[in-house]
This record gives sequence, C-alpha cells and structure tokens, in this order.
Amino acid sequence: MYKILTKKQLNPTVTMMDIEAPLVANKAEAGQFIILRVDDDGERIPLTVAGYDRKAGTVKIIFQIVGATTMALDKKNEGEYISDFVGPLGCATRTEGIKKVCIVGGGVGCAIAWPVARKFFELGAEVHSIIGFRNKDLLILEKEFADCSHKLTIMTDDGSYGRRGVVTEPLKEAIESGERYDEVIAIGPLIMMKFVAATTKPYNIPTTVSMNPIMIDGTGMCGGCRLTVGGKTKFACVDGPDFNGFEVDFDEAMARSSMYAEFEKAERENFCNLFKKEVL
Ligand SMILES: Cc1cc2nc3c(=O)[nH]c(=O)nc-3n(C[C@H](O)[C@H](O)[C@H](O)COP(=O)(O)OP(=O)(O)OC[C@H]3O[C@@H](n4cnc5c(N)ncnc54)[C@H](O)[C@@H]3O)c2cc1C
Ligand code: FES
Repeated sequence: MYKILTKKQLNPTVTMMDIEAPLVANKAEAGQFIILRVDDDGERIPLTVAGYDRKAGTVKIIFQIVGATTMALDKKNEGEYISDFVGPLGCATRTEGIKKVCIVGGGVGCAIAWPVARKFFELGAEVHSIIGFRNKDLLILEKEFADCSHKLTIMTDDGSYGRRGVVTEPLKEAIESGERYDEVIAIGPLIMMKFVAATTKPYNIPTTVSMNPIMIDGTGMCGGCRLTVGGKTKFACVDGPDFNGFEVDFDEAMARSSMYAEFEKAERENFCNLFKKEVL
C-alpha cells in the first residue's frame, strides 16, 4: 500500500499528490512514468513522474480527472492509501548534448513537460517554455515553469490569460527570429504534437514528442501501447514514451486513442452513479 502524503488541487480538474514510494523515488528520472491501481480491483493507469524526492522517498504525480480511475483517485485524501504504484517505467528523456531547448506543453501535458523543463534547467541548458491552455481557469504550473525557464510564453485559446492563440505561433516566431534550438520537446494532445512537429520540420530542428497511448502492463508484453514510428512498430511503454516527432504516425495514434471511447464513457457513468449512491 502506498500512502498519499499531500494532495493539492491545481485547477478544477487537475490534482497533484505526493506518494510515499521510496523504491520508485530512488530510481525515477524525468520522462519516466508509473502505473498505479487505486484499489485492489481497480484498473491500472499510467501517470508521469512529475517529481521525486529521493531523500524523503516521495514521488509527485499530477493528474487530470477524465474518467472512472482518475475520479476514484481524486476521491482519496491525504493519509489514505492506494493499492499499487509500480515504476519507474519507460525511458528517461534524452538530455545529452542539448544546450538550448524549447519545451512546448499543452493542457495537462504540462504536468509531463514540467519535470523535463526542470531537468534541462538543472543541467544548465537554456530553457524556453511555451505552455498553452484552453482558458485561464485551466492554467496550471505557471510559477513552476517560470522557475525553470529562461523564457516563458503562456498561450490561451480564448485570450483569457497570456497571449491568445495556439502554441505553434510563438514557436514559429521564435525560430524565425533566430532562436537556434538544439531540440524542441512537445508534450500534450496528439493534435498539438502533430502540429509542433509540422512547424519545426521545415527548419529541421530535432523534435521529440511524448506519446501517451492506452497502456495495460507497461512492460512491452500486451501490445496495447503500440505505435508506428518511422514505419516500424514500437511500444511506447518500453521504447518511449519519447519518440522522434517527424517519424510518428499521428493519424494512426489518434484513431487508436478513441477505440475504447464507448467503454470509457460507460465506466465513467458507472462510477458517478456509484458515488451518488454512496453520498445519498
Ligand atoms: C506514459 C503515460 C503517461 C501519462 N501521464 C499522465 C499524467 O502525468 N497526467 C495525466 O493526467 N494523465 C497522464 N496520462 C493519461 C492517463 O493515463 C489517463 O488520463 C488515465 O489512464 C485515464 O483513466 P480514467 O479511467 O480516469 O479515464 P478513462 O475514461 O478510462 O479514459 C479517459 C482517456 O484517458 C486515456 N486512457 C484511459 N486508460 C488509459 C490507459 N490505461 N493508459 C493510457 N491512457 C489511458 C484515453 O485517452 C482515454 O480516452 C498518461 C498516459 C501515459 C500512457
Ligand atoms: S503497455 Fe503493454 S506493451 Fe506497452
């Protein structure tokens, strides 16, 4: 059992928790993830290691409440326990030789992008971050990004905070104004990562994307997380989650990501009905 040490709401649908998990904290690196189960009969879901404290033996997770399992996790409070917390899984983000990087985060993808930005900052790289949200109410981690970025641009779709527009606009402007990035790293919705890669491709700037397909075992055995990258089948859980953005077949990934939409909707409704019954 893994104890929830802290719980904080970052916005109405995003929660941050510190979990007591010394073995995971001891090995985790930016870019890796864990798989947890809230209860013994619960579903396994992957979440990125948003931070770790090796001394305290804690691992930070940040999750958006989107369905049955994240709803159940959000119902847990400080001092309570979750059943499983396995990791670290996947490959750490590659940092060697990168002196200037642009981190592009979208929505809750910023939870995954933040530890990556922090890692580059700690290694002494020049970090430019561009983070985008639908509106001001959904903004998360502004201070955290400001603390680990030499330049931070905030975008909202509706202009309610920062600049109005999508993240690819300031990215293109920066490149055209002469910023020479060794790497652009994009983490967010599939459509956003697809367009970031399309923006950097004409300038041939190496672009990494973090792929979050459906995962089940997280060890390369079930095939659930398969993607086509450079014409070859890859498993995001063991070969990724980071991949070359120019090689990912985004259209296939988008089609696969909506495969279980009906089932997920039913589970979400089941959970809401169960919770309503418990409250009544
Ligand atoms: C490597 C990796 C890292 C991730 N890191 C984060 C993170 O740091 N913060 C965060 O909020 N989300 C993260 N996700 C997404 C997160 O796993 C899903 O939001 C979660 O599984 C939703 O479960 P649910 O039961 O609440 O919702 P559901 O209603 O079951 O699903 C909602 C959506 O979540 C996705 N999803 C569902 N089940 C899985 C699964 N087993 N594996 C992957 N995706 C799934 C699907 O796109 C689905 O449409 C990550 C996913 C991966 C693969
Ligand atoms: S989650 Fe099963 S192969 Fe990746």
